[in-house]
Amino acid sequence: MNILITAGPTRESIDPVRFISNRSTGKMGYALAARAAARGHQVVLISGPVALDAPANVERLAVTTAQEMLEAVDARLDACQALIMAAAVADWRPVACSDLKLKKSAMASKLELERTTDILVAVGPLKGARVFAGFAAETDHVLEEARRKVKAKGLDFILANDVSQPDAGFAVDTNRVTLVHADGTAEAWPLMSKDDVADRALDVVERLSRHSPARR
Ligand code: CTP
Repeated sequence: MNILITAGPTRESIDPVRFISNRSTGKMGYALAARAAARGHQVVLISGPVALDAPANVERLAVTTAQEMLEAVDARLDACQALIMAAAVADWRPVACSDLKLKKSAMASKLELERTTDILVAVGPLKGARVFAGFAAETDHVLEEARRKVKAKGLDFILANDVSQPDAGFAVDTNRVTLVHADGTAEAWPLMSKDDVADRALDVVERLSRHSPARR
């Protein structure tokens, strides 16, 4: 299969030295890309700024902002049979980005923000027979939020994780996720390495793809 994977955070600039971002390190998305390539898939990895090397046999496209990630996903989706959105896309960006460094003496005490585009929602109409998967990083009401998102974003499944746990979520090599299908049924997976989570997620992607001949 041709699989499109996004990973890492996005950065939304305030000025040339400051930005808004989040704690994503890209580990889960990079594990997915590495395992998918090792399983013989053609992988395009659209990555926000992270400190990781590109996995072997993966085409990596570097992006910075949510808008750039949206444009890259949009450009590459057509050739893919599956999209896995593991990126932690910034939900807000500053309304204005200054070309010059803002001086603290002249800075307003409030930053005016606007919403970024939801990439999964934006590319939803292009889904067709493709498998679409997402991640939900939550600190509370994990299952409830995952069920809401899988539906709202028109996904085949979502992997939900409780990022308030020290052994799951950002910046660690392990993850404990709950798989939530489109119909809301859920399956809690035990604590595993991110590589093992990636392999199990890819099992699901491959199974869903096989079940619809049009998806091949
Ligand atoms: N996502 C996206 N575009 C965005 C934000 C998120 O495509 N602008 C994707 C993520 O890559 C992930 C899924 O949507 O696969 C859920 O992301 P999450 O941050 O958990 O949810 P949000 O939609 O941002 O909702 P909320 O802020 O209410 O938790």
